[in-house]
Amino acid sequence: MRKNIVAGNWKMNKNLQEGVEFAKELDKALTGKSPKCDVVIGTPFIHLATVTSVVDAKRVGVSAQNCADKVSGAYTGEVSAAMVASTGAGYVILGHSERRTYYGETSAKLKEKVKLALENNLKPIFCIGETKDEREGNTHFEVVKSQIVEALFDLSADDFSKIILAYEPVWAIGTGLTATSAQAQEMHAHIRKILADKYGKEVADNTTILYGGSCNKNNAKELFACPDIDGGLIGGASLKVEDFMPIIEAF
Ligand code: PGA
Repeated sequence: MRKNIVAGNWKMNKNLQEGVEFAKELDKALTGKSPKCDVVIGTPFIHLATVTSVVDAKRVGVSAQNCADKVSGAYTGEVSAAMVASTGAGYVILGHSERRTYYGETSAKLKEKVKLALENNLKPIFCIGETKDEREGNTHFEVVKSQIVEALFDLSADDFSKIILAYEPVWAIGTGLTATSAQAQEMHAHIRKILADKYGKEVADNTTILYGGSCNKNNAKELFACPDIDGGLIGGASLKVEDFMPIIEAF
């Protein structure tokens, strides 16, 4: 059975001290609780090693927000998948729309990143989603399909089963506009169908598909109640424990 996951994406927020403080506070808030989902926090690179050392890995998983598309060498400023893994982090967010838009990440690049993440035993949280124009032009189903096919469909079924998907309509990210639960469910069902056609029903049924885009404590319950929505990738509402915990508890 697929896992439910609530994953925070801090983006470029929190200095090291603030990040460590948050991690300790979240770990404490989860102690003695049995949430019905795995909990992950996606921190900037510089936090990873310290954050993994202050949380119990059974309670809080740790994720990077990116990794390099190269193994190692003369790539100034880059951080490799192996380096991320060496911090104790278990996940890496890849293909976030902000990376695609502001840092020119193409499917070809993302394919390399996914491959390196898997080789280093990191679980990719792979983001897909259409822009406002694409939805208005009614190409959203096609766009999301190409994003999946181009970056992921060379993977074997075994490797694909290590991928977590996050559907994040770009028009809903940080805008306060959430996809309605009907819109999100419709897209998640579409995605699961694409996976079933390629890898078979079992792999499709076992793939965790998160929703992201202005998900918060007020709408999480309704979104997570949809049959094909297996949790959330949370930006703004993952920055304070008091906002993040109720989303975890929405399951
Ligand atoms: P948001 O961001 O929750 O602030 O909309 C989600 C994301 O970009 O992962």
